[in-house]
Amino acid sequence: MSRILLVGTVTLDLVFGLEHYPQPDEEMRASSLRTCRGGNAANTAVVLAGLGHSPEFLGVLADVPETAVIERDFTNHGVEFEHCPRLPGHPPTSSIYLAGPQRSIVHYRDLPELAADQFSALDLGQYDWLHFEGRNVEQVALMVAHAHTNFPELPVSLELEKARDGIERLFGVAQLLLCSRGFARHYGFDSAQEFLPWMQGHAPQADVVVAWGESGAYGIDGAQSICHAPAQPPSQVRDTLGAGDTFNAGVINARLQAQTLNNVLEQACRLAGRKCGVYGFDF
Ligand code: FRU
Repeated sequence: MSRILLVGTVTLDLVFGLEHYPQPDEEMRASSLRTCRGGNAANTAVVLAGLGHSPEFLGVLADVPETAVIERDFTNHGVEFEHCPRLPGHPPTSSIYLAGPQRSIVHYRDLPELAADQFSALDLGQYDWLHFEGRNVEQVALMVAHAHTNFPELPVSLELEKARDGIERLFGVAQLLLCSRGFARHYGFDSAQEFLPWMQGHAPQADVVVAWGESGAYGIDGAQSICHAPAQPPSQVRDTLGAGDTFNAGVINARLQAQTLNNVLEQACRLAGRKCGVYGFDF
């Protein structure tokens, strides 16, 4: 069991299940509605807790009653969050429309991102692993620099899901980069085999993993040969929301057990597949 600090956002997700994808100007009824906690680092934290770890989430919480949904979910899953600053604003909110394989997400955000001094106030000596969402680049760069200076042995993973201004600055800061297919595509790559050597060229210190949807996941490490594991979809796909975050939890979990990259990918794909067979994160 490891103490893992995950830095990023936690959202309030309004997940509408639809019979079909709406047309412009269409008014329709949803067949289901789920109001729940979401957010990449927060989802990864919940899955890590389910795997027996002791994760803590660090991100800004809105100082309003709706935050109770988030607090309850973290508490129920055993994710600590007591160092999160609370600021006026709304919880970052995502309206999510699911219609079979089609999915749209509308985000609203008015809360400021976590500032580096809020991170530096923590005693990092208590953690075994640090994980960051690749967002608010300047502040994350300062946070990782603080961690490297004071705890050079502490492993750092970085999620690169979306391309953001200046994100290249973060490529060199982590031992493990967890990339999305969308991120690879942003840089013009339509194949993981071409993306990984390029990415590792920009991050020679890191092992790089990229999840490639129905094609499974690929990774490259110091040995510089590309590993692959196939996707392991369940017999019935029920909910893919957060599958990538679950995959990331699987990677971190397997890395904490010092598994080989092949095993890391295989275990993470198996976990993400299991998640797709259930609603939410109790699997
Ligand atoms: C899923 C998710 C949702 C959230 C959105 C934020 O990966 O974390 O829970 O609303 O993405 O980008």
